[in-house]
Amino acid sequence: MSTLTIATAREVFDLLREDLVAIEQELGRDAASSVSTITEIAEYLREGGGKRLRPSLLLLSAHQLGYFGYSAIRLGAVVEMVHTATLVHDDIIDGANTRRGRPSANTTWGNEKCVLAGDWLYMQAFRVALEEKSLRILEQIVGLTQQMVEGELLQIQKLGRPVSEAEYYDLIFRKTACLFSVSMRMGSVLAGASESEETSLAAYGRAVGLAFQIVDDVLDLTATEEVLGKPVASDLREGKATLAVIHAFDHGTAVDRKTIQRVLDDRSFENVSRQQIQEILVRNGSVEYAMAAADRYAGQSRQALALLPDSEFKRALLWVPEFVVARDK
Ligand code: IPE
Ligand code: IPE
Ligand code: MG
Ligand code: MG
Repeated sequence: MSTLTIATAREVFDLLREDLVAIEQELGRDAASSVSTITEIAEYLREGGGKRLRPSLLLLSAHQLGYFGYSAIRLGAVVEMVHTATLVHDDIIDGANTRRGRPSANTTWGNEKCVLAGDWLYMQAFRVALEEKSLRILEQIVGLTQQMVEGELLQIQKLGRPVSEAEYYDLIFRKTACLFSVSMRMGSVLAGASESEETSLAAYGRAVGLAFQIVDDVLDLTATEEVLGKPVASDLREGKATLAVIHAFDHGTAVDRKTIQRVLDDRSFENVSRQQIQEILVRNGSVEYAMAAADRYAGQSRQALALLPDSEFKRALLWVPEFVVARDK
């Protein structure tokens, strides 16, 4: 049993500070295109910040196994670019007008330019990854991108339906947890991990990613746009049933089910108010249910690290799931 305690946000940030600065520089170089509109959009997205969670995981994974070279910086930038590309496309698909506390790129440049900027960013991520000259790495990124696109597409196919929990978990693995898992795996590959180390770290990433998306979906129901920096109550308005809503649908009364289905059909709070939905979720303990599931995955992620030796990086990895479930944005 590890005696390691959990780090604080400050400690983790201090631990990764120089690496994260280097990743910002790499991202700055990678945002340049010969077409000015693309550079403008890519720069705008980069400046918007974000938590830089995926590159941080990749760094911690590599460092935990003793790798400190430039490839971790480069691939950190790669996973952030893939993430950013999915966000640009996601905001177009969701018709979202804010992101990271600012107008989303599609609001400023329009959908057409942003679809292309997203495509360009994907390819830029691949181009930078090519510099590794590693088929293993490329295979990971190609597989990952396909999973993410499939996730978004499956989600569209299921709009308006209260999906089963199994369908929900499949969706959130593809659209979110897969990238967390691949970030951890690539960090471990750089360090020449053993098969069991790679498997443990990838399992950790998957569990953290699932917890992360469950919480993202809860925040959509409970947070304010001011704090979150992106639209709230948007999932139901888009016809998406997330874990808390699925729980209320499965455990609520016949009237609760009808009320939820109405919002999913209407794709608006025209006939059913947000307050009515809140009341249903509270009465059925559905938000607690979803948060308990997130806690379970957070616990599972910590478990996945059990066999790795104690270090400051492991301490930081133990902190991430805590942060993910406690965050408010
Ligand atoms: C948002 O991810 C997209 C989801 C997978 C829910 P983040 O919340 O990590 O976005 P940024 O990068 O910090 O803005
Ligand atoms: C995001 O899902 C998944 C992506 C991979 C883009 P959401 O649609 O819930 O993400 P947000 O809430 O817009 O960030
Ligand atoms: Mg969205
Ligand atoms: Mg969301």
